[in-house]
Amino acid sequence: MDANDKTIVITGANTGIGRVVAVKLARAGARLVLACRSRERTEAALEEIRALGQAEPVFVKLDLGSLASVREAAAEILEVTDSIDVLINNAGLATVKGVTEDGYELHFGVNHLGHFLLTRLLLERLKASGPSRVVTVASRAHKRTRRGLVFEDLREPAKSATGFEEYAASKLANVLFSAELARRLEGAEVGTYAVHPGVVATEIWRNLPRLMQPLVKPFMWTPEQGAYSTLRCAASPEVADETGLYYDEKGRVKRPSQLGRDDELAKKLWEFSEEAVAAFDEAL
Ligand SMILES: NC(=O)c1ccc[n+]([C@@H]2O[C@H](COP(=O)([O-])OP(=O)(O)OC[C@H]3O[C@@H](n4cnc5c(N)ncnc54)[C@H](OP(=O)(O)O)[C@@H]3O)[C@@H](O)[C@H]2O)c1
Repeated sequence: MDANDKTIVITGANTGIGRVVAVKLARAGARLVLACRSRERTEAALEEIRALGQAEPVFVKLDLGSLASVREAAAEILEVTDSIDVLINNAGLATVKGVTEDGYELHFGVNHLGHFLLTRLLLERLKASGPSRVVTVASRAHKRTRRGLVFEDLREPAKSATGFEEYAASKLANVLFSAELARRLEGAEVGTYAVHPGVVATEIWRNLPRLMQPLVKPFMWTPEQGAYSTLRCAASPEVADETGLYYDEKGRVKRPSQLGRDDELAKKLWEFSEEAVAAFDEAL
């Protein structure tokens, strides 16, 4: 890894894959900005990083389910860092029902729209810091959506029984976003990477029925194993010249699903997301 002296912003780093990624990057010499929704829940990760005796980690409060919080967090990040070498859009939730503060379906709002706005607000700094990278933790689950992105439904709570369909659609949005971002950044020194981390025993499964949890967890990777592909995309010199691609849990470039390769859909998602954040700005 080439992380020494780099400034790396990561969302959802208080637990799971994000925490392991943050600690490993700090150990490799990076200065970490942990953008998480609770300082209390992030304290153990901050302590673990401080104990390494490297650069002091920074906590920034970020609730991706609130566009106002994303704006505040982005402003604070720009305040505390002169450069951003890597942004890791890692935070996510699964199998929940509800809408965000701004009225978007929870998976779409948190996993995609919050990260869309955060990335957009940090983009000039990422460009000025080039060569830099935007890593988006997507999922192989993007292949499992049966309905794809149904734009008319994105302002309503999940309709599927478990919410998995909506989770899969939000992960499809992650894949499309990363590819479209690469196209829009052509000529800039910012690489984009969409990652499937593996099937990993983390808190993402907290909403599964309790009886099912002991059945699925033994077959999952540990968060340490699940951090591999994200770390590689964030800091390996081997992928420095790549952009707009999708990687599996072993860090290999893979073809996304047919919908994940649909450039028109990616453009439509970008425009929908632009309008969503513009509508929020107008309401201020
Ligand atoms: N685990 C897997 O098998 C798997 C497979 C494929 C993809 N992924 C992806 O990997 C990424 C990391 O997930 P994980 O498995 O490490 O799950 P995790 O242990 O549940 O961690 C998720 C992180 O996201 C944060 N988060 C959730 N909602 C948020 C919000 N509204 N605002 C800010 N942060 C929020 C959580 O914060 P709190 O602790 O405060 O809730 C937590 O820090 C996700 O994008 C997930 O979709 C995971």
